[in-house]
Amino acid sequence: MKRFLLLFLIVPAVALAQTAPSGNTDSGKRLFMKHNCYYCHGTAGQGGRDGARLAATALTLQGLTRYVRQPTGGMPAFTEKILTDQELTDIYAYLKSLPAAKAPKDIPLLNQIK
Ligand code: HEC
Repeated sequence: MKRFLLLFLIVPAVALAQTAPSGNTDSGKRLFMKHNCYYCHGTAGQGGRDGARLAATALTLQGLTRYVRQPTGGMPAFTEKILTDQELTDIYAYLKSLPAAKAPKDIPLLNQIK
């Protein structure tokens, strides 16, 4: 019974933490593929030859939106006609759901070359 009550407290807290900002990760993944973000940034947002790593981005939603609308580097701009703010919110949620890069010390092969 006690454990059940604890769940009652934890589940909404976790749900709240995950829904701010409220983007749909499944939709975000679909849009990431559909609009070819993956082509430069990698299918798991890991970064590629051209695009930066986006998985678990440190950017805020506002920062990401600003960059995608008016990129400063070699990236093409995506206007609101192509991707709405809601769609970018979904993409943001998807990118935030991806695992961050491992620390170098946690990569066994790198430890072998010390
Ligand atoms: C043609 C290749 C290309 C495509 C397609 C592309 N990007 Fe990029 N993107 C880049 C490049 C190049 C940069 C700049 C990398 C740098 O300066 O380090 C960048 C940077 C970014 C950044 C800033 C990263 C940071 O940490 O500062 C974001 C956010 C981003 N892209 C999101 C997207 C999204 C979302 C899409 C799909 C809607 C997309 N990109 C499609 C090439 C691309």
